[in-house]
Parts: sequence; C-alpha cells; structure tokens
Amino acid sequence: MNISLLRESFNLVRPHADAVAQDFYATLFSTYPQVKPLFKNADPAEQRRKLMASVAAVVAAADEPEVLEPVLEAMGARHVDYGVSADMYAPVTHTMMGALARAAGEAWTPELASSWLAALEMVSARMIEAQQRAA
Ligand code: HEM
Repeated sequence: MNISLLRESFNLVRPHADAVAQDFYATLFSTYPQVKPLFKNADPAEQRRKLMASVAAVVAAADEPEVLEPVLEAMGARHVDYGVSADMYAPVTHTMMGALARAAGEAWTPELASSWLAALEMVSARMIEAQQRAA
C-alpha cells in the first residue's frame, strides 16, 4: 500500500467528497438494493459526510496503526448494531473503488487502484474482526 499515493489522490478527490459519496450510495443501492433498508434511519447528507470523514481519517492515520486500530475496532463493533454482515464488506469496497475511480478520472492508475484496494481491504478486515468479536 502506497500511503503517500493514497494521500495525494484523496487530496484530489477531497473537494468533490460529497459527489463521491453520492455516487457511492446511488451505485450501492442500485446494485445491491437489499442493503438500502439498513440505512432507513440515516439522514443521507449526514451519512455522506460521516462516510467521507471516516475515509479521510483512515488516509490520515494509515501509517499510525496505534491510532487507526482502535477507531476501526469501535466502528466495526457499531456496525453490528446497524445490521451489517461480513459478506457486505466486499460489495461496499467494490462500490467505493468505482466511485473513487470515477472521481479521479484520468488520474486513476493501476497503482492507485491497488493502493486503494489494499487500504479498503485492511479497513474491512479490521472492522469484520471487531464485528465478529462484538456479535
Ligand atoms: C468499508 C468500511 C466501512 C466504513 C469506513 C464505514 C463507515 C461508516 C461510518 C463512518 C458510519 C457512521 C456511523 C459510525 O461511525 O458508526 C457508518 C454507518 C453505517 N454503515 Fe458503514 N462503513 C463501512 C462498511 C459498511 C458496510 C459493509 C455496510 C453494509 C451495507 C455499512 C452500512 C452502514 C449502516 C447501515 C450505517 C448506519 C446508518 C444509520 O442508521 O445511521 N457500512 N458507516
């Protein structure tokens, strides 16, 4: 995982963070309509803000596992209460990859793709572990 590349590319998409999140949720709900009911209590604008803030936090702390691990641990445990199961992480990761790629446009490269995939898979793995402990 190339952390400086992650940061550079996130800085590129950051001004369009809300559009990335809109693309993400629209694609998620159209591709996986079964997850939509899980978000019935969420305010969409607030949910978009929280999602992108969590991505920003991961990118910021990607080289500080002692900061990141407890954050991911707590977030994974909260996802049990949201009714999220472990098999939903891969679709979410895939959908986020698509939204980031569309936002980055021509700046999206195979190296960028593999760094984002590694980061999202690391986040998912930590959250799933915490979910399974909390369940
Ligand atoms: C890839 C890792 C993920 C990240 C970084 C992430 C991030 C977040 C954040 C920041 C929140 C706000 C509340 C909180 O912090 O507890 C949240 C809530 C939520 N997430 Fe995730 N999430 C991830 C995976 C998933 C997956 C796989 C699903 C399943 C579809 C999901 C469904 C939800 C739901 C239903 C809520 C609660 C909405 C509400 O009622 O307020 N998340 N997520």
